[in-house]
Formats: sequence, structure tokens, C-alpha cells
Amino acid sequence: MSHPWSTDSWRARKRAQATAYEDPKQLESALRKLAQLPPLVTSWEIERLRRQVAEAQEGKRFLLQGGDCAETFADCRPSIIVNKLKILLQMSLVLVEAALKPVIRVGRFAGQYAKPRSHLTEAVGGVELPSYFGDIVNRVPFTADARRPDPGLVLGAYHHAALTLNFIRSLSAGGFADAHHPEYWDLSFFQRAAVPENLRTGYEHTTAKVGEALRFMSALGECSIADLTRVEFFASHDALHLEYESAQTQPVPRRTGYYDLSTHFPWIGDRTRQVDGAHVEFFRGVRNPIGIKLGPSASPDEVVALLKALNPENEPGRITLITRMGADRVAERLAPLVEAVKFTGGRVLWVVDPMHGNTHETPSGKKTRYFAEILSEVEQTFDVHASLGSRVGGVHFEMTGEDVTECLGGDGSAITEADLPRNYATACDPRLNYRQSLEMALLIGRRLKADRRQEAAP
Ligand code: PEP
Ligand code: CO
Repeated sequence: MSHPWSTDSWRARKRAQATAYEDPKQLESALRKLAQLPPLVTSWEIERLRRQVAEAQEGKRFLLQGGDCAETFADCRPSIIVNKLKILLQMSLVLVEAALKPVIRVGRFAGQYAKPRSHLTEAVGGVELPSYFGDIVNRVPFTADARRPDPGLVLGAYHHAALTLNFIRSLSAGGFADAHHPEYWDLSFFQRAAVPENLRTGYEHTTAKVGEALRFMSALGECSIADLTRVEFFASHDALHLEYESAQTQPVPRRTGYYDLSTHFPWIGDRTRQVDGAHVEFFRGVRNPIGIKLGPSASPDEVVALLKALNPENEPGRITLITRMGADRVAERLAPLVEAVKFTGGRVLWVVDPMHGNTHETPSGKKTRYFAEILSEVEQTFDVHASLGSRVGGVHFEMTGEDVTECLGGDGSAITEADLPRNYATACDPRLNYRQSLEMALLIGRRLKADRRQEAAP
């Protein structure tokens, strides 16, 4: 693509999932304000993540990305944020111990407010209204007023993202995430009898080993304690709402190019990744590392064209491909993509999102996902990569630190269809609850360990 890029050049392109605001002038005024507000993240942080993704591409790190399907302004609350961080930390600890590699922790948070939808409208009892497109666009309640796209919500999204990030940064800096004390990270559920023995002992074994390793390293005196124990979080979201993203995108002093300073790691969704579309046009011009979701409709040619458009110089750390094929299709769909990327020599990090290809509707109309299918897509993705001499460099989950009943199964929870209404709290897709998340991490850890042993075998 040789035509000039600007923060607005995407406007001339066809744009999937665009929001039709009734009053564009109101939106323009909110965006003008947004463009004047301070950035939410810095280019130093973004470049640091980019270097870490480059290392993950070389197999030196593993990436864990997780959080809500749709963050809501109402859930911008301390306990919910803390629990989300705790479960992400716990999962990452399990993965560190299993992979023997540092884990990059990326939250679907501080901006995960825009939702692409398969259906533009929703009908209930003969009434048809716009679907819910995330708190940055409209509201969950099924009323005409709540579902009308509201331009002022872009500022609400910025403010809630800022509040969330501020709290997360303070918690991280304040020792909450001190790896010397993983017991601080425990969620209250560990004290509850309901936690099955295998989960508790699996996790306790991990924390004991990590604590021992840290004491050993400090005793050697080789590394500073601050370096050893610093626990970082990066923020990510589906960069669907291009007006929001472009208002926060700017050049940075003493650096070349533009940075999207609304988040560290924006990703392009499966419904918005058209090579000649607005989202790809916008992201070809920003320096952030970016994710691209690839569902079962992605063809090898499309993926190669996306890499060419978004990373023409084949720079390390730039592209993460997040595959979400579905347990029933991954074996057939993934291999051609991996082969095509290998053939062109494209530098990418392969991450599996085992959530979005495995959504079902129950007879009562609730969206759900089966733990066994989620795990199966992860396992099969590992198998496909192994068979092609490639590597899975990370995992991506919709999950929460709350005791929700949205996904079915898992040994620790054994949630059945009858349990779903008990605490079905998601604003969009079903999330793994804390037990299901930890159990998933332990099972992935088992696989990572087995693979490590196999690699080490003569
Ligand atoms: C998401 O991650 O919330 C999402 C909508 O994913 P996808 O674009 O893969 O459907
Ligand atoms: Co989702």
C-alpha cells in the first residue's frame, strides 16, 4: 500500500461494524475533547511490550491474555478489578512454572468496551432494537433509550479506562503483585471448602516452587530483587471503535511514527480484518504491537496479505496472530495458515483463543461454552503447531475472577445447564470463572511441561 497514511485515512475505506450515530456533530465534539486528554499509556511501555512479544516469537516468553468479553462501566469497581488481576497472576504463575519462561500478562481491560456483533439488531417479544455494541457505544438494557448510540460514551470509556489503569498501576507498584508472596494473590475462594483438592494442591505446589526459586535467586545475589519480583500488566482491547483509537493516536517526541496511546496492545477482530478495510488501513500506520484474530473463514492468502499490509518490513514483535477456529474445525483450518506463514517467513506470535469458536446457545437462549471444548481447541492447536515444527506462544481467554456461572463443565466447578441462571453476569460472551480459569491454566501447564520434556529428550 503506497498511498499516504494519516490518523484519518481509514475514513475513506469500507468499514465493518461502523456505528451509526444520530448526531455526528456531537461525536466530533466528544472526539475533539478526547484528543486533548492525556494518553492512557506511554510509548516506552508499548515498545517494551513489543520487545517482549519479539522474544515470545523466538520462544523465550509465553503470552497470557485474558479478561472480560465486554468490560462495563458498572464493573469498574475495586473488588472486580483486584479479582481479575489475581486470577491472571495465578494463571501466569502456573504457566511460568510449567514453561520455565517469563509470561507476558496482557489484560482484556482498561478499554475493552467495544463489541463487534453478528446481528446488528436484537428482537425480544416482537420489539426490535439495535444490539448492544459495548459501553463505548450504547447500554445493555433492552430499551430504545439505552440502545441508542450515545456519542458521549467515548469519553466515558476513556475515563473508566483511566480509572482502571490507575488502580492497576498502583496495585502493581504497591507490592500487591510481589512474587515473593503469592499467598497475597489468593482469591477468597481458596479458603472455601468448595475448592477441589486437585486444584488446591496443584496451585500450592506451584507457589511453593516459585517461592523456593525466588529465595534461591536472591541468595545467589545475581539479580536485583526488584527485577525478580516486578510483575507487569499490559492492557489490550478490540480496537473496533476507530474514532476512539484515532483520537488517542499521535506522534511521540524523539520517536518515529504514530502510537495508539489508548492501550498497549490493540487487536483487530475477526469481523473487521478485511485487508482493504478501515481497520487494517488504520493499524498499518501505528507502531503498537497488534493482534489479529483469525476465525475459520480466514484463508492462507488473506493472512499473508494481512502480514504484508500490517508488517511490510517483517519487524519482530509487531504481529500476534490469535486463532479461534472452534474445536471441531481447528484441525482442518489452522494447518494451512501456519504453513502459509512459515512459507513466507513472516515473523508472528501464534496465540490460541479457544473461546470464540466454541460458543453455543442453550435451549433457554443463553450463550455458553463447554470447558471440554475450550480445552480441546487448546490441545489441538498445540498438536497442529507441533506437527508443523511451529510453536504456540500464548493463550487468550474470556475469564473473570468472579464466581460466575457462564461456561459449562470443568472438574472444579462442574457447572451444568441448570446452574447457568445462578450467576450469569456477562454483558456479552460467557467467561471462565475463577476455578475454571485456574484449572485451565493447570491443564495447559501440564501440556507445556510434557512438551518441554519431549524437547529435552535425546
Ligand atoms: C472478542 O475477542 O471479544 C471477539 C469479538 O473476538 P473475535 O473478533 O475473534 O470474534
Ligand atoms: Co467475546
